[in-house]
Amino acid sequence: MVTRKRLAVLISGRGSNMEAILAATAEEDYPAEISLVLSDNPDAAGLETARGAGIKDCAFSRRDFDNREAHEHAIISAIETSNADFVCLAGFMRILSARFVERFEGRLINIHPSLLPAYKGLHTHARALAEGAKVHGCSVHFVNAQMDGGPVIEQISVPVLKDDDEASLSARVLEAEHELYPRVIRQIANGSISLKGGKVIT
Ligand code: GRF
Repeated sequence: MVTRKRLAVLISGRGSNMEAILAATAEEDYPAEISLVLSDNPDAAGLETARGAGIKDCAFSRRDFDNREAHEHAIISAIETSNADFVCLAGFMRILSARFVERFEGRLINIHPSLLPAYKGLHTHARALAEGAKVHGCSVHFVNAQMDGGPVIEQISVPVLKDDDEASLSARVLEAEHELYPRVIRQIANGSISLKGGKVIT
């Protein structure tokens, strides 16, 4: 039997991407498992989901630490204690320091609700609608020190329909996210995708 890679999944809220990853890990041949779900928000709904599935969870609220460095230090320690091979950001709403990014370089990925490099940052669906975009989507990328700026691994495009509002467009993108993230994690965990010299190697 192949040893499954261990994933630390970092969330801040709903956790639907984490759930999609969790569902994928139920497949017999999936090369990864979730070893830790960590949140910066103790009230994140996804923590409850993780607990219900028997997965170790923990929360570190920024409020409980004197400064950002101490907060991040606690997060890094928890990830390392879980022996995670990869760190998957899934709606984790904090900007990570260069120190954090370097520590997990090549093992740190994120899902973003746009076709990067378009619409980095927040409110991607509203911005796509305001600009009259015809196509929108989601991206999974390796994380580097630039916000939403790391090398893109894979994307899924979805159409923007005439009557779309933010809710309908974000629901369409979210469905694509749930397909994309587990698929990319499979490829990273089985070694068919990696980061070398700042570039995605397949
Ligand atoms: C997703 O759209 C993700 O791409 C973005 O934040 C949202 C998180 O949703 N970064 P969920 O917590 O995974 O349901």
